[in-house]
Amino acid sequence: MNQTILVNRADFTDISVVNIEAGELAPDFIRIEIGPWALTANNITYMVAGDIIGYWNFFAPEAYDIKMETAAHWGRMPVWGYAKVIESNCADVAVGTDIYGFFPVAKTLDMKPVKLTSMGFQDGNTHRMELHPIYNGYTFIDTDPSFARHKDLQPVLRPLFTTSFLIDDFLADENFFGAEQVLLLSASSKTAMGTAYCLKARSGIKVTGLTSEGNAHFTKDTGFYDEVQSYDSLTDLNPEVKTVIVDMAGNGDVTRRLYEHFEENIAYNCMVGKSHWQGSAPPKPKLGAPAVMFFAPDRAQLRIKDWGMDGFAQNLAARWIPFCDNAQAWLSVEISEDIGDYLKTYAAFLEGKASPAKGYLFKL
Ligand SMILES: NC(=O)c1ccc[n+]([C@@H]2O[C@H](COP(=O)([O-])OP(=O)(O)OC[C@H]3O[C@@H](n4cnc5c(N)ncnc54)[C@H](OP(=O)(O)O)[C@@H]3O)[C@@H](O)[C@H]2O)c1
Repeated sequence: MNQTILVNRADFTDISVVNIEAGELAPDFIRIEIGPWALTANNITYMVAGDIIGYWNFFAPEAYDIKMETAAHWGRMPVWGYAKVIESNCADVAVGTDIYGFFPVAKTLDMKPVKLTSMGFQDGNTHRMELHPIYNGYTFIDTDPSFARHKDLQPVLRPLFTTSFLIDDFLADENFFGAEQVLLLSASSKTAMGTAYCLKARSGIKVTGLTSEGNAHFTKDTGFYDEVQSYDSLTDLNPEVKTVIVDMAGNGDVTRRLYEHFEENIAYNCMVGKSHWQGSAPPKPKLGAPAVMFFAPDRAQLRIKDWGMDGFAQNLAARWIPFCDNAQAWLSVEISEDIGDYLKTYAAFLEGKASPAKGYLFKL
């Protein structure tokens, strides 16, 4: 029996836990048991951008014959994590193999390994072929030495840190658009933390964080930021400093106030996320550079072309490993196999009440 959690695409608080017959495994397919996988604000934004970027399509219930009798339009939230092969009709992938990648919130999933190498494979399930290849890749964790350490931290931080690394790389490549300061919004988020860490390691640019009042102490204590202000005290920032915004919050009210405060001193606005997913839409500024969307998979593809796959992995690892070592000081990871815990934590993320000091791992 496969258990999965469906989300009403029009109302993320409306969820349905369903049990479905797993059925017979198709030829050339593998069946995996999913978990543990991580939950962060990023997963909520996958749903917010579900129609625009196509995140709903990866694990759409209809593509897996999951039928619901209610009229609501149901989807499955994607997550990053580990899985184990529990059945195989694919000669090159043995039962017991451990993998890492992109999954639905479910107990099991059937995948069709294609483009197999010693490092991993792509899921060649027909409905996934037109989706971004970065999300279709699965890694054999035993053949990738970067999984050897901090196993519990990896699903929480790994997909986010890759984005952090790429933002830092992009801004440095553009000489920070002539700015003296990078201002990170939702500074307590893991993606912001990783970006601040990379910027600080590079040195030569002021790294400032903007966060909610309740997360300000935590954010300061990480030591990644030269200055931290809360959304309420953003006018305490020096408006004369030429600034690049890295926006993980996507809260139109906050960005409007920043444009009013910095005016033409906003040299670039890198729109990364919408952790404040219920916040208003971003404004069209009269002064200062307008927002430009940052899509990590596109930047990753560009750098893989520039540096080659090995070069990309080496450059990323040079920052990733020390960041992971450092994260143990400010991030504690909890693992649960209790569906009640998952539903509680999911609700806390929707409401913005989850602790930034915790990493959450689950398995159904
Ligand atoms: N473009 C890309 O390719 C890409 C890739 C990775 C991540 N991202 C984005 O980066 C953002 C951060 O993701 P993450 O996984 O790193 O987050 P996280 O670590 O789970 O961040 C949690 C933080 O986000 C804020 N937050 C979360 N939910 C909220 C809510 N409902 N209302 C108000 N504030 C809320 C709070 O920060 P504050 O109190 O500091 O505001 C909270 O401490 C997301 O929007 C994600 O989509 C984008």
